Amino acid sequence: MTAVGIDAMEIWTGKLQLDLPNTFAPVKGDDPEKYTKGLGLEKSSFPDVYEDIVTMGANAAKRLMDRKDLSPEDVGRIDVATESAFDHSKPVSTYIAGCLEQVYDGDFRHANKGERKFACVAGTQAIDDAYNWIKAGRNRDKAALVVATDTALYERGDPGEATQGAGAVALLIDEDPDVLELTGDQGYGSMDETDFLKPNQQFPSVDGKRSMQVYLARMREAWEDYESIAGKIEPDDFAYSPFHTPFPGMVRKAGLFAYRRLVRNTPVEDDLAETIGRQPREQDYEDRDAYEEAISEYMDELKATDLYQNWYAGTVEPTLELSRNVGNWYTGSVHIARASALRHAAEMDKDLAGEKLLVASYGSGAQAEIHSEVVVDGWREEIEALNIDEQLESRYDLTFDEYEQVHNVHDYDKDVEVEEFTAPDGEFVFTGWGRMNERKYEFAE
Ligand code: CAA
Repeated sequence: MTAVGIDAMEIWTGKLQLDLPNTFAPVKGDDPEKYTKGLGLEKSSFPDVYEDIVTMGANAAKRLMDRKDLSPEDVGRIDVATESAFDHSKPVSTYIAGCLEQVYDGDFRHANKGERKFACVAGTQAIDDAYNWIKAGRNRDKAALVVATDTALYERGDPGEATQGAGAVALLIDEDPDVLELTGDQGYGSMDETDFLKPNQQFPSVDGKRSMQVYLARMREAWEDYESIAGKIEPDDFAYSPFHTPFPGMVRKAGLFAYRRLVRNTPVEDDLAETIGRQPREQDYEDRDAYEEAISEYMDELKATDLYQNWYAGTVEPTLELSRNVGNWYTGSVHIARASALRHAAEMDKDLAGEKLLVASYGSGAQAEIHSEVVVDGWREEIEALNIDEQLESRYDLTFDEYEQVHNVHDYDKDVEVEEFTAPDGEFVFTGWGRMNERKYEFAE
């Protein structure tokens, strides 16, 4: 059976940054450590005035196509995952294809284009669609381009404002991939929820605290579903576990829940029992409240053990490095977590080929999906080709006042004129509106 998976990836960050502990916290009257230690964030990325979900997605895709020496005819499918779309009908993939056609010979006339929506899990779903298309033999030897692109903005003053971000990830899904092979092992946890939604509005209605509970509940169900087909997951089965990362503090919570589950009924639980006792079992408690209180106490003790801390430091912490410096990229978030993990492995000079990743995606509304991937030879070269460090270092550092202006520029209900903060350099830029209110783009040399 031919392997199908991720052949290449590219990342494009918004070109502005907001320093959360040093610029945002003082104006909000918050302790900077709420951001650095509590939420686990240092900086958020924002788009400059000439950037948006199309330019970021097209710029990531162009880097990928240039590096892999692809022409439009090599791509049979373009799916964009986003929850920041500005059009209810015309998909963002058509705008991105239009941009790319400005700079390449040939066109994407015969590529199937679409837009995937299920909050942040849509990027993973688009990969899944591409995988199924190739596995079904309907791809005519062509690859699929998946672009996850978002400008994650919240209403000014919403608690979510601390977790904003903007950027795009482009992924090439193909046969005989150079980075990761996707396996058929997969589990879902999905329920009709109203934790975070945008009913015909740009900024989300969000119940932040509840959204965190829903994230954990759906992840638990996806885990159960995954194990029902792939068998019990053991702590050392996976080199890394990238989670959807709205902010690193969320993943810190998810990691602890995951570890409790991982070690239950294993010799590790027996080892831990010597210091912190065995995990509470519901049948041993009078009611649900008593059981939950016992769980909460157990988790506090588990969190402090060397066994847990070592597992977390090796398997989860390395996935958070990019997120810490860019904020939430919604559909792209789990994909930058994966990229962070691979970058870490390259920096540590790890021999990762043949090792597995457990990828845990989540979308509000709500659905979690867990699947496994196998790292393949070629991963190191692909990861070392990323230039995300240079992009991060060259971001313009906003003052709070400038941040407010940028927020207004990207607010669809406001019409404000703000000078650009950076100069475009060999990239797609937004140039204004056309006669049918469509957005227009050009490649700026
Ligand atoms: N030092 C250290 N830690 C501190 C601190 C300090 N001085 N001050 C606060 N903290 C800690 C808090 O204890 C808390 O950590 P714990 O949860 O571990 O206790 C953390 O910092 C955050 O503080 P608050 O809970 O007081 O923060 P908040 O109420 O202002 O908002 C939030 C937090 C609810 C996550 C808010 O940012 C939000 O609504 N975010 C958007 C929704 C979101 O991201 N939900 C995640 C799940 S849904 C999802 O994943 C989909 C998606 O992408 C949106």
